[in-house]
Amino acid sequence: MAALPDRLLIRRPDDWHVHLRDGAILRAVAPSTARVFRRAIVMPNLLPPITTAAAAAAYRERILSAVVQSDDFEPLMTAYLTDTIDPGELERGFTDGVFTAAKLYPARATTNAEAGVSDPARIAPVLETMERIGMPLLIHGEVTDPEVDVFDREAVFIERHLQPLLERHQGLKVVFEHITTAEAVAFVEGGAPTLAATITPHHLQINRNAMFLGGLRPDAYCLPVAKRELHRIALRGAATSGNPKFFLGTDSAPHTRSAKESACGCAGIFNAPHALESYAQVFEQEGVLERLEDFASVFGPRFYGLPLNGGTIELVRQPLQVPLMLELGGEGDSLQPLVPFQAGETLSWQIRAPSS
Ligand code: NCD
Ligand code: ZN
Repeated sequence: MAALPDRLLIRRPDDWHVHLRDGAILRAVAPSTARVFRRAIVMPNLLPPITTAAAAAAYRERILSAVVQSDDFEPLMTAYLTDTIDPGELERGFTDGVFTAAKLYPARATTNAEAGVSDPARIAPVLETMERIGMPLLIHGEVTDPEVDVFDREAVFIERHLQPLLERHQGLKVVFEHITTAEAVAFVEGGAPTLAATITPHHLQINRNAMFLGGLRPDAYCLPVAKRELHRIALRGAATSGNPKFFLGTDSAPHTRSAKESACGCAGIFNAPHALESYAQVFEQEGVLERLEDFASVFGPRFYGLPLNGGTIELVRQPLQVPLMLELGGEGDSLQPLVPFQAGETLSWQIRAPSS
């Protein structure tokens, strides 16, 4: 057997789904993303949500002032779709280069989704515009029907909403975000080339048991919620298969301690500090480390129709102890420590300094 490599040089990656928040949390978390990823698709679920190009442009400036300038980080902004969003505003924002894509949250599906879309069929004119101008639609694919079991909400969304939407808009580029089930994997594999999916590190690493390990574990709770082991196995198969329809999107979603440790705790896993290392571990365990680069740095930009990044990032095989807590607050910010994904665990790869 050939010796395992102990260093891996890959093209600079991008994160195709991240929550950077605003204010003190933005200042705390954005540097973790910008240190590793050259670009990131930034989610628009602020309060109030980002529904205009002006709001997105202002948010982009706040992000840029939160990161180290030398990191050369490019936030790619998204619009938050509502029942009443103006298709003209989306089109102007897209053609002016402010919006890269638009995000569809079913109303009340997740954090700050109150203003989301009540029924995707009702925003047909918006989707027609996006289809015509080539603007990707990013979907949080879960039904919100309280009658549907939480663990079935993604699979039911495919039948009730996603399949019909793709039939109505056959030219629309759609990213099924943070997929969590074998059903979603099969649906994306069988779909047109205009359908792709992002996969998070946490859905590759944990199944639903993680939420109940010796007690209730708020840091393993996110939406869509982690599912049974058979689904995790299907996701690992998809991510590491070399199929260009599956690419990296961390869905890093930080919340304050008090928002996580609460009688009604927020969904979201903060994985930005070690996301790439976590993915590297998965690809190594699956015996296909050589496919990490395509998943992290090639398939995403190809789908979006954007250039591949120049520059590289080096991973070295060296144990990395993930801290239990991270004190990330910026100067003058009083922010509680954040708990990173895989806190206390040891990962097998570390990032050496990126170079451009
Ligand atoms: C996200 C958040 O907190 O904004 N939470 C999560 O669990 N992923 C929202 C989302 O992407 O669903
Ligand atoms: Zn998200």
